[in-house]
Amino acid sequence: MATTTKKLPWVEKYRPRLLKDVVGNEEAVSRLSVIAKSGVLPHMILSGPPGVGKTTSVHCLANELLGKELSKKAVLELNASDDRGIEVVRTSIKTFAQKKVTLPPNRQKIIILDEADSMTAAAQQALRRTMENFSGTTRFMLACNQPDKIIEPIQSRCAIVRFTKLTDSQVKARLVTVAAKESVPLTQDGIDALTFIADGDMRQAMCGMEATFAGKGDVTADNVYQVCDTPSPEQVKQMVAMASKGDFDGASGILMKLHGEGFAVTDLLSTVYRAVCYGELPEGMRMNFMRVVAETHLRVSQGSDTILQLSGMVGAMCMAAHSG
Ligand SMILES: Nc1ncnc2c1ncn2[C@@H]1O[C@H](COP(=O)(O)OP(=O)(O)OP(=O)(O)O)[C@@H](O)[C@H]1O
Ligand SMILES: [Mg+2]
Repeated sequence: MATTTKKLPWVEKYRPRLLKDVVGNEEAVSRLSVIAKSGVLPHMILSGPPGVGKTTSVHCLANELLGKELSKKAVLELNASDDRGIEVVRTSIKTFAQKKVTLPPNRQKIIILDEADSMTAAAQQALRRTMENFSGTTRFMLACNQPDKIIEPIQSRCAIVRFTKLTDSQVKARLVTVAAKESVPLTQDGIDALTFIADGDMRQAMCGMEATFAGKGDVTADNVYQVCDTPSPEQVKQMVAMASKGDFDGASGILMKLHGEGFAVTDLLSTVYRAVCYGELPEGMRMNFMRVVAETHLRVSQGSDTILQLSGMVGAMCMAAHSG
């Protein structure tokens, strides 16, 4: 591990250094492991939702291909906090691609473009030629959330590796391991709460645990919801259960109370959506509820009055419940 004594956030402290330590996404990770073993590295795009190990995997792969020492000279990393307009492609990237570094046979320099979907289209256009001109000596590894923001010509030059959300059990297992190392008092409902909020995002789960531990000591469900400022799923589940019985007053009472507590409406709606998806509802009703919540989400995101939309949503859910 790092030789510094600086206190690192847990996400950094427990960032996997080797591909074999990356949790989940077995298929994607095994493709990368094959590349690490064979040394045959194509240009690559790693895409997928936040906090699932894309950046981590890119670094692991670069380290496994080149080793720690060589990586210092032979890897250039740019992320969204760097300026990545067209000038950077013309200067930094090109200069690095032209730089002579002595490498073992069949190895190339690596340019990591993290959060590549935030590069301007013009910069991406400029990248096309650079990728081609230097492909003898340099490989590009792009990590992004939205692969459709990467222009077609770059996509077609790259092998695309897709990451998906981690499963709850993968997140839980990792939380338990880290909690044991950091001596965190963690209850079962605390783990469940962290996993629920994270929804497959390992970074969010670990940050949530660290923040709750720092702020409250014990990592229990109540503390997690307070620290992470998330509506309690128990109350939201209760609201959905009431709506499923057609109890408009009860359901809208809970929702308005949560809204009054100041939670962001989109957070409220996504918690409702997940309570509907995973709750115990008759199949037809579940489908209807999902549609209603999704439509409300759309209208709220388009700027319609929130209170009206929330009551309209509860009304529509109760009507759907009555009609079966
Ligand atoms: N699959 C995983 N296995 C183990 N730890 C993980 C995994 N995914 C994420 N983490 C933890 O979360 C942190 C953030 O992960 P990483 O930076 O790789 O996410 P990302 O997929 O690049 O997300 P973003 O799209 O937001 O850039 C890591 O430092 C690590 O601690
Ligand atoms: Mg990343």
